[in-house]
Amino acid sequence: MWPDQAVVYQIYPRSFQDSNGDGVGDLSGIRSRLDHLVGLGVDALWLSPIYPSPLADLGYDVCDYTDVDRVYGTLGDFDALLAVAHERGLRVLLDMVPCHTSIEHPWFREHPDWYIWADARDGGPPNNWSSTFGGSAWSFDEERGRWYLHSFYPEQPDLDWRNPEVVDAMHGVLRFWLGRGVDGYRIDAIDRLLKDPELRDDPPATEPFGLPLRADEAKLALSNSRNHPDIGEALAGIREAAGDAFLVGEVYLPSARWQPYLEHLDVIFAFELLYCSFEAESLRSVIEATTAVRGRHGVGAAWVMSNHDFGRMVTRYGEDNARAAAVLLLTLPGTTFLYQGDEIGQTEGPGADPPYDRAGRDRHRHPMQWNASPFGGFTTGKPWLPPVDPEKRNVEAQAGDPHSLLSLYRELIALRPGLGWDIRPVDAAPGMLAYRRGDHLVAINPTDRRLPTPASGAAVLESAGGALQSEALAPHAAAVLRVG
Ligand code: GLC
Repeated sequence: MWPDQAVVYQIYPRSFQDSNGDGVGDLSGIRSRLDHLVGLGVDALWLSPIYPSPLADLGYDVCDYTDVDRVYGTLGDFDALLAVAHERGLRVLLDMVPCHTSIEHPWFREHPDWYIWADARDGGPPNNWSSTFGGSAWSFDEERGRWYLHSFYPEQPDLDWRNPEVVDAMHGVLRFWLGRGVDGYRIDAIDRLLKDPELRDDPPATEPFGLPLRADEAKLALSNSRNHPDIGEALAGIREAAGDAFLVGEVYLPSARWQPYLEHLDVIFAFELLYCSFEAESLRSVIEATTAVRGRHGVGAAWVMSNHDFGRMVTRYGEDNARAAAVLLLTLPGTTFLYQGDEIGQTEGPGADPPYDRAGRDRHRHPMQWNASPFGGFTTGKPWLPPVDPEKRNVEAQAGDPHSLLSLYRELIALRPGLGWDIRPVDAAPGMLAYRRGDHLVAINPTDRRLPTPASGAAVLESAGGALQSEALAPHAAAVLRVG
């Protein structure tokens, strides 16, 4: 059974803990750091891809779905990590990348018909679909004289989920890891799984998409290149292969369009929250919209405010708001995702030059800062990306400080199960966000003014000591009150 109000900790394996001095994080390193997760009180961890990969998309270009990349260890190391995680009460989710493989996956050569091919149109790409990272979603293959589809990088050809052999192969992958004992999957880019079978152009947009897009994408309805109405059948098959494992979907669609996905997956990442400015009115309308969409077990949203793609909470909302943002993330009902390092307020860094990721996401992926040493305790070698500022923030220093951000995360995670399932917005002073969770009131003040709380009650938690005084909340502060 998936825990109520679960907190899932996202581990980016390259950047969590290196155990062998090669400068890249690995599975044994993760195993050695499980104390940190247990201390935080999280219920589960999600590992971004650990499979063999030529790293065109840092692991999201998979060339063998049933092995571990040697840089991270072996299947034996994975089994050992899983066993220890389970012993310690932590569930483990893997990242399943079903939409595309690496162009170096043997399938691309051995089973070209498992991919999506088309002939040129007027000497150019077959249609107007664009890749997530910009430019046409089609590349020409000299050898075959045809174009292949890639919704992401050209090194990531899209699989054809209308081919039953592809479906069988991917179901086999799901069963492989479940057979080893994993508890579920984060399913990557699942809105890209099924496209228009006739590969027709995306028509012009007639209404806003509902989530940020590049300017050229926003002009199109994106109704043929993704999210085809047939998606239900593919999802039903995935659900059948996965049994009752926990499935969280990465679906880049606004919550109003989640329903077909929620019939089969447990929860969907709420990117509306991630993109929302840290300001009461917008947050309130996003929370109302996303919590209204119900899934198999209540709230269909999986809360997320940062990850390896979209950057760090603290950088986006400002250091002033780090504590109040933590209170928001951890007091929303249902399953919440916490990206490694956010619990100590890690910020984005400079990335690398030349970049590893052509889409500019290196800056979200700097290593965990465990202690104040120059490489933050991440590695004894030369880190693949340097830590940003371990001397300024690190786990060791914050673990011993009851007033640290890390201590606030621990308190929030401990409080969370007691908040129950329901959420009701509460009217509050302009600028303040407030909602009821059972007997509790959560008040969040993202402004730089002191604001009155909408009700009085005993403070159960404050974002910082003294945040709540005379029924008013300090600027950029938050509190949970018992009011019932
Ligand atoms: C998802 C991943 C991202 C990757 C993309 C293509 O959005 O989170 O990192 O680039 O899928 O697999």
